[in-house]
Amino acid sequence: MSKLPNIGTTIFSVMSKLASKHKAINLSQGFPNFPIDSQLSEILMTKVNENVHQYMPMPGSPELLTQLSTLIEKQYKRTLNPSTELLVTAGATQGIFTTILALIEKGDEVIILDPSYDCYEPSVILAGGTPIRLPLDETFLPDWERIENAISNDTRMIITNNPHNPSGRVWSSNDMVVLEKIMSENPQLLLLSDEVYEFITFEQKHLSVHQYPSMHDRCITVSSFGKTFHITGWKIGYLSAPEKLMQEIKKVHQFNVFSVNSIAQATLASYLEVVDVSSLGKFYQKKRDLFRESMSSSNFKLLPCDGTYFQSASYKSISSKSDVDFCTSLTIDHGVATIPISVFNQDARDQKIIRFCFAKDETTLLKAAEKLCKI
Ligand SMILES: Cc1ncc(COP(=O)(O)O)c(C=O)c1O
Repeated sequence: MSKLPNIGTTIFSVMSKLASKHKAINLSQGFPNFPIDSQLSEILMTKVNENVHQYMPMPGSPELLTQLSTLIEKQYKRTLNPSTELLVTAGATQGIFTTILALIEKGDEVIILDPSYDCYEPSVILAGGTPIRLPLDETFLPDWERIENAISNDTRMIITNNPHNPSGRVWSSNDMVVLEKIMSENPQLLLLSDEVYEFITFEQKHLSVHQYPSMHDRCITVSSFGKTFHITGWKIGYLSAPEKLMQEIKKVHQFNVFSVNSIAQATLASYLEVVDVSSLGKFYQKKRDLFRESMSSSNFKLLPCDGTYFQSASYKSISSKSDVDFCTSLTIDHGVATIPISVFNQDARDQKIIRFCFAKDETTLLKAAEKLCKI
């Protein structure tokens, strides 16, 4: 008996293992290969000698929760109560899982927009809900007509991801307005807004659900320190939700995590006092531009990249292989590991598009591009 009969090992583990076996440059899994900010490591080293090694309060360190409410206020002009509307989680993944487990019941339908991050669907299934997977349009932006048509009385939640992994697209203000309209027309609907790449956008600024008060009473936002501070291995993030939903989320959180690792919380509380998150977009924009420039003579067709640290590309003019086979041969024969987009789609729909992660140092990006330009 399996509760998740159709779920195997995630593609990220599969590709990273293949990359290391064949000594390929790993542009597959989304993690930075450069050092963390030296200010962050200095704070971490100081904290080691402080009294921060025992359980933190269940919802998070009060200092960290206060810093988070300040950050959200500064960034989005939304005032949140740190003790009732915020929760520190063991990464965005746990925040998503815990939210879904707390709020979704048997018979509830949950809309997921494909290509979708791989933890959404299993969480819905484990909660007893029914995932309704709808494709984004061909430019990886929401197909609102399709979404509106899919909403029924059984639809309890819509999960959105903006900026979007794997495509790197960012929603427009029109998208946000339509989302607001749909939320107001469907009072039974909750919104789980995965914004883990919120600080990584380029020409177009990120529009957060935090900025749309009409949705606040039914919206849960998900953020990740892993993405924002290049510390994916620390597995720490946070949620915001209105108090009545947060109470339910905390009931689950206290029994699947209780409280998140104390030294990371203490370190981040102090780091948030000094760091400026607004420089992150520029930092990654330079990497995106370098990678795109160095790929300009390749046979890959690079698709628009407005945010995240992912560049998607079509390989239609290079090969007719399935994207999984293409990525496998790219790793083994050409020494660059990437991610096939079909694994993010229901029924593995293959669009002949792959994803490169450009959260890498310059040398790695240039070496990878050199190899890719020869194909
Ligand atoms: C869209 C999206 N959501 C959630 C996560 C999970 O974030 P965390 O590592 O903080 O659990 C990721 C990580 O790649 C992601 O891309």
